[in-house]
Amino acid sequence: MARKLTFNIFRYNPQDPHSVPHTDTFDLEETESMTLFIALTQLREEKDSSLQFDFCCRAGICGACAMMINGRPGLACHTLTKELPDEITLMPLPIFKLIGDLSVDTGTWFRVMHEKVESWVHTSKSFDPQAEEERMDNALAEEIYELERCIECGCCVAGCGTANMRQDFVGAVAMNRIARFIMDPRDQRTEKEYFEVIGTDEGIFGCMGLLGCEDVCPKHLPLQDQLGILRRKMGWSAVKQLFRRS
Ligand code: SF4
Ligand code: SF4
Ligand code: FES
Repeated sequence: MARKLTFNIFRYNPQDPHSVPHTDTFDLEETESMTLFIALTQLREEKDSSLQFDFCCRAGICGACAMMINGRPGLACHTLTKELPDEITLMPLPIFKLIGDLSVDTGTWFRVMHEKVESWVHTSKSFDPQAEEERMDNALAEEIYELERCIECGCCVAGCGTANMRQDFVGAVAMNRIARFIMDPRDQRTEKEYFEVIGTDEGIFGCMGLLGCEDVCPKHLPLQDQLGILRRKMGWSAVKQLFRRS
């Protein structure tokens, strides 16, 4: 017999001065291979057409559908209801600006983060569209690609103790970006320049190292390894700068 699922869903429309944050409860019969995306779409079609949530790819690629699922950040399109208990509580991701109900604006947060850590290849070489592509060692390209798999869903930020306490913390996602540029031979930034963007308590030294980020990353990025490597690199950089001054 199909399970009856109970959904407790956070509701609030910040655009509406009469709206008050609250939870609405809906019942739904579980179907075979039901995902939270299917359940939410069915609830919107059958029970409440004003329910707000974000989806785009429905395939774990765009990162739009991240939300708090029974208290844990995750992708709704990749979460099967059969993996969850009968009662499911859905909340919007914390930290990001609320658009309404389960929908948040991750884009603004990510833009600020990218600008803050200068998340692009820094080179003095001028671009020659006629030049042949420069080859990169295959093994190195694969290592960089491994870190490029981030879909900017925001789960690691929402699950991070420091990011929840401090708005200026750049999060594991930014450190993963910097780790990717440090590996990239085209990026000509010096160790000191990297230290300036990430060697602070808004960066690697604000990280408490409890690895909630890696636990909740739906793409299983090796955040733990990258945070460890960065911590050592930036630690050494700090020591070297100290001795240079004395
Ligand atoms: S290990 Fe660092 S970045 Fe990851 S969740 Fe903990 S404080 Fe945040
Ligand atoms: S590192 Fe993982 S959890 Fe964080 S934004 Fe990228 S894909 Fe999402
Ligand atoms: S809808 Fe794109 S990741 Fe879920």
